[in-house]
Amino acid sequence: MIHHRQTIGTHVYLVDELDSTNKELLENADNYEHGAVCCAKKQTAGRGRYQRNWRSQEGGLYFSVLLKNQKDISSIYPFVLLSALAVVRNIQSCATQGVAIKWPNDVYINHRKVCGILAESATIGKSTNIVIGIGINVNNSISNASDLRHPAVSLKECRGEEVDLIPLLDRLIDELDKLHTDKLEGKFSGYLPELNRLLYAKGQEVEVSSAGETRTITPLSFTEEAKLLCMENEKETLLFLGEM
Ligand code: BTN
Repeated sequence: MIHHRQTIGTHVYLVDELDSTNKELLENADNYEHGAVCCAKKQTAGRGRYQRNWRSQEGGLYFSVLLKNQKDISSIYPFVLLSALAVVRNIQSCATQGVAIKWPNDVYINHRKVCGILAESATIGKSTNIVIGIGINVNNSISNASDLRHPAVSLKECRGEEVDLIPLLDRLIDELDKLHTDKLEGKFSGYLPELNRLLYAKGQEVEVSSAGETRTITPLSFTEEAKLLCMENEKETLLFLGEM
């Protein structure tokens, strides 16, 4: 079925190399359309959360989505979480089991990180532009890398054979566009059961990074505002994507 894109991916830019697709869209937003997608075969300064570096050698999928003129950043949190869901839904042919969303929005396969998402914003005058950057280990070899904070894996390493990048990107953009439209139409809560089934380490103690520090929490469920309800030091706490 052909999906007619409403917002995300009506314009898609594919380039061989960039420092960072997030940086490109944030710094040059005037040159791009609302909903534009920018994808690079490799990045020379891929950005991770907390000013970390994101390894971006050829073979992985590195792309960002630009959402212009957003009124406030927190209203975008549900869509950031839905972006992780879009990734999960489209990698399930590579890994049928053990796929999970680890707070705040990493995708894991059997306790190894396969995808990271970084949302960043820039406010100029009254308008705030938001960029959601998605990095997926696809055909790059990563599981033996020793300098990573978390054990990692690529789709190729899971599946035992290469995955075609462009069809994967295409399906992801279609899914992101559909989820984005649903979110605008107030349908986010309809996705909570699926998100909650995918929640990593539900009911188990796990270390997560939040606002730059590592915390030990027990995830319970996602909320209507895309916050994470969890237990921390025997108290219920809500974590949110507060530091974009
Ligand atoms: C993380 O887990 O720390 C987030 C990693 C996000 C990486 C992606 S790759 C495409 C986009 N461009 C960047 O520079 N970063 C994001």
